Amino acid sequence: MSEAAPPAENDKNADATTYLFEQFRVERGCLGYVVAEREGGVAAIVDPEVGMVEPMLDYVFEHALRLRYIVDTHTHADHFSGVRELKAKTVAKVVMHDKAPASCVDFRIEDGDRLWLDTLPLKFLHTPGHAKDLVSIVLPGKVLSADALLIGSCGRTDLPNGNPTRQYHTLYYTYRSLPDDLSVYPGHDYNDRTHSTLAEEKENNPKMLFASEEEFVEYMERENPAKLSPVHQLADALKANMA
Ligand SMILES: [Fe+2]
Repeated sequence: MSEAAPPAENDKNADATTYLFEQFRVERGCLGYVVAEREGGVAAIVDPEVGMVEPMLDYVFEHALRLRYIVDTHTHADHFSGVRELKAKTVAKVVMHDKAPASCVDFRIEDGDRLWLDTLPLKFLHTPGHAKDLVSIVLPGKVLSADALLIGSCGRTDLPNGNPTRQYHTLYYTYRSLPDDLSVYPGHDYNDRTHSTLAEEKENNPKMLFASEEEFVEYMERENPAKLSPVHQLADALKANMA
């Protein structure tokens, strides 16, 4: 992995270029992140899939970071979280939404809460629909959208704890009210893309362009599940990630 990510062309916020930000990817398109204000600073890991644990720890050591927070954006149903392994190997605290069932959580956050990495704020937005405990994280110039908003799509709402009406609210109220120039870094991408912008998603994402809540809910409840493949290890992943 490289040094701090180079500023993306569409990052207009000057602050967005001044902190450490690294994206990690494993098979099946899971994306995780390490964030810190600076070399040697306080760091957070976001959405570590179990296969990311070692490369993320390598990054933390290479940059002399003090890992303080491990954030799971929601109770993942489709892959195994690396949160428990990271908690066992470090002194970092596990952060999840107040509604998360996992017993390993140290800090439970709600909509609007902030955590600070030195002077860098992580602001949490409760964006349910894909899962009831799902939080998005706003950083200067970026939003880590988890499965609330994917590039050109959104997370499915037909799995346990999914709710298409809440997902509509998340996309059409919460996300539509965020600034266009935010870069969107999702929790999954199946086409090797790293990020997009909120302007692109508002304009082109079919899941953000339904004419009404009723049509969106109807689509997510009936047509969408028929197009999706069965989730890999659903029951085992949920059981492990809720423990
Ligand atoms: Fe998910």
